[in-house]
Amino acid sequence: MSDMNENGVDVKRRRFITMTSSAVGAVGVAAAAVPFVVSMSPSERAKAAGAPVEVDISKLEPGQMVRVEWRGKPVFILNRTKEMEQGLNKVTPELKDPDSVDPQQPGYAQNEFRSLKPDLLVMVGLCTHLGCAPVDNFEVGAASGLGDDWQGGFFCPCHGSKFDLAGRVYSGVPAQQNMVIPPYSYIDDNHILIGVNPEGVA
Ligand code: FES
Repeated sequence: MSDMNENGVDVKRRRFITMTSSAVGAVGVAAAAVPFVVSMSPSERAKAAGAPVEVDISKLEPGQMVRVEWRGKPVFILNRTKEMEQGLNKVTPELKDPDSVDPQQPGYAQNEFRSLKPDLLVMVGLCTHLGCAPVDNFEVGAASGLGDDWQGGFFCPCHGSKFDLAGRVYSGVPAQQNMVIPPYSYIDDNHILIGVNPEGVA
């Protein structure tokens, strides 16, 4: 049977050309999407890098800690146990700034927990001496290797600064300031948003 229609057009060839054009069109769209991302302006890239980070904390068991990244910095999220919370009071006399009077900190960090809720610590994981990454040591007492009085906390291996389980710096170490609490808020009981203060908090 001939492929010509009544107008003398080769139908088979026209169908082939149409399909080929469609396929090229689809690839073209995909290829065009890549340069769009790459070509984000510096201000758009900066905005993306500084964007708030949402974290699901529903699976974080008491005593567990996760690390996430926000604005290129590590952020520690620790779900403190009741024992950990109670240990915070015991170390107060050994701390340089137990009430976090440092004006750089959000108001909700100016208490012994340094957090919106007593159990959850959200803290930038950088030493305030020269910016090394402190390691967590949640052992209590001699087993920690940090002395009989140690109630758990963070130890900076670079020059030996010590911080409690709220990131408060001990006296007599190189670091002079408590670790930084970033702005954050609760979206609901299971999700926090790092980078955004609670409503009404500057
Ligand atoms: S950088 Fe942490 S003690 Fe120096």
